[in-house]
Amino acid sequence: MKHSKYSAVIIGSGIAGLYAAIKLHKEVNLPNGILIITKTKLIESNSKYAQGGMVSVMPENKLDSCSLHIEDTIKAGAGLTDAKVAEFISKRSAEVVKELQSFGVDFDRDENNKLKFTKEAAHSVNRILHAGGDATGFCIENALVKYLMSKKDIKIYEQTLAVELLKNQNNICRGLITYNYDENEYEVIEAPAIIIATGGIGQLYKYTTNPDITTGDGIALAYRAGAIVKDMEFVQFHPTAFALGDNGTMFLISEAVRGEGAKLVDKNGNTFMEKYDKRLELAPRDVVTRAIFNEMQITNTKNVYLDATHIKERKFEKRFPTIYGTCREYKINPAENYIPVSPSAHYFMGGIKTKVNGTTSLNGLFAIGEAACTGLHGANRLASNSILECAVTAFELVEGLKDFDFSIDAPIDDKISKTISFYEHDILKTDNQNSEEIFTQLKQTMWNNVGIVRNEKKLLEAQEKINKLKEQFAYPYKCPNRSQYEIRNMLTIADLIIEFALNRKESRGAHYREDFPQKDLIAESQTLSKNTRMKG
Ligand code: FAD
Ligand code: SIN
Repeated sequence: MKHSKYSAVIIGSGIAGLYAAIKLHKEVNLPNGILIITKTKLIESNSKYAQGGMVSVMPENKLDSCSLHIEDTIKAGAGLTDAKVAEFISKRSAEVVKELQSFGVDFDRDENNKLKFTKEAAHSVNRILHAGGDATGFCIENALVKYLMSKKDIKIYEQTLAVELLKNQNNICRGLITYNYDENEYEVIEAPAIIIATGGIGQLYKYTTNPDITTGDGIALAYRAGAIVKDMEFVQFHPTAFALGDNGTMFLISEAVRGEGAKLVDKNGNTFMEKYDKRLELAPRDVVTRAIFNEMQITNTKNVYLDATHIKERKFEKRFPTIYGTCREYKINPAENYIPVSPSAHYFMGGIKTKVNGTTSLNGLFAIGEAACTGLHGANRLASNSILECAVTAFELVEGLKDFDFSIDAPIDDKISKTISFYEHDILKTDNQNSEEIFTQLKQTMWNNVGIVRNEKKLLEAQEKINKLKEQFAYPYKCPNRSQYEIRNMLTIADLIIEFALNRKESRGAHYREDFPQKDLIAESQTLSKNTRMKG
């Protein structure tokens, strides 16, 4: 197997990974350089699809303040947001926006060249920056990719998976094994700093807004290596994915459309949010999702509708060009027709337990972005706080790494050699298990039993099903192809989500248990420190 050495390896090329790579390259002297590994193409990521925008408390936005933003974040987090983390991230927001602009990101401005701020659910003021109208993620990601490509000395591996972290006898993460599935080539990479920026887990669910790369790999790898994971029961379902087409990966209709006044209506055109929350369409995401889910059950329909007909066609097209284009492909004119929408798995509040600077419970291993759980989102993420968290965790990671000893050059010990040996033997390239079938069963089980409304019976059934799939799964280490690695990781994450969901016998934020519909207020004071798990 090929061997190489780098000072820092970044796994993932979404906004978190790219921001970290650029800043590391700029500000830290790395004797052995930086390697970025990414599953498909550099630009492909959840980040690329982000629509609504990025929260930032900017000094020129006189209506806003960090204390208001912190308050909104904590409210949405339903009692589990770490207030210190929320404060830290909010206070860093203007600085990361400035830095993103210096990397070439252009946020939308008005005719007077002033930054535009929009609103989404559960924000008390307009504070969300956007770019390209509703193409915020693409614009940021594209600018970062361009900037990065101009730095010729950053090494990039595309079409490559991180498949195993290498931890030595002293519990220090010293490197990883990669698999280029196009070339069918494995490589051992030694590095003193391994940074996971692999994003979330949306593809565990039958219906999701997340692209197919989003299989929870980094969280599963960190957990396999012994890192502590946190808040794994908290999966956010976005209320308004586009309910046309029969694909499980659903196009998003941004919350910013509701921010511009669109109403949710049933098949007869009647509004219904007034039955659920006085904040109506701009109630927190979990509230709106459950309201829609309930309406779909009452009316026995597969979706509800978004009525944005109060927005003139030219204005809609200008403000939401991506959404307008997709609607038109399906012969829907948002200025005249209702847009069919239904909930879809969207974001993972849980993940690898980290500090804001990405440090995990394992030395040498860092995690940033959606794969990390800093405590910012608690039980429910406030809209557009994710890109902000990606940027701030990347920023702080690099600040922290300025004091890191990159010269460490420990030899590969027996424990690492043993792990490597599992990847050295040949394995049949033919897939002797039907990966399509396992994918389908896993995603269906998670959607039906571990979704928007949960109960003990459904969770126990899901646990049994996932255990059966785990027993059938034949590859503890080396797998024959990319799909099997993804299945291995998805089974690990599914198991953890179910276990955490069973343990949380209350309803809180995105975790709703119909058998325990109330918040457990006694647990609230204890949970911040309790809801973590480590392998073994
Ligand atoms: P990602 O952007 O998901 O990047 C993960 C990277 O890791 C990818 O490059 C992937 O290929 C790579 N990877 C994964 N596994 C492996 C592996 N095993 N080996 C190598 N590479 C791997 N948030 C907001 O704040 N505002 C919004 O408006 C917004 N809109 C959204 C709209 C949509 C449709 C979606 C899906 C999400 C949205 N979000 C939004 C959430 C936000 O986009 C994500 O949380 C954020 O972009 C995650 O960034 P990241 O860098 O952590 O990970
Ligand atoms: C959206 O645009 O509705 C998504 C925003 C987010 O996920 O924060």
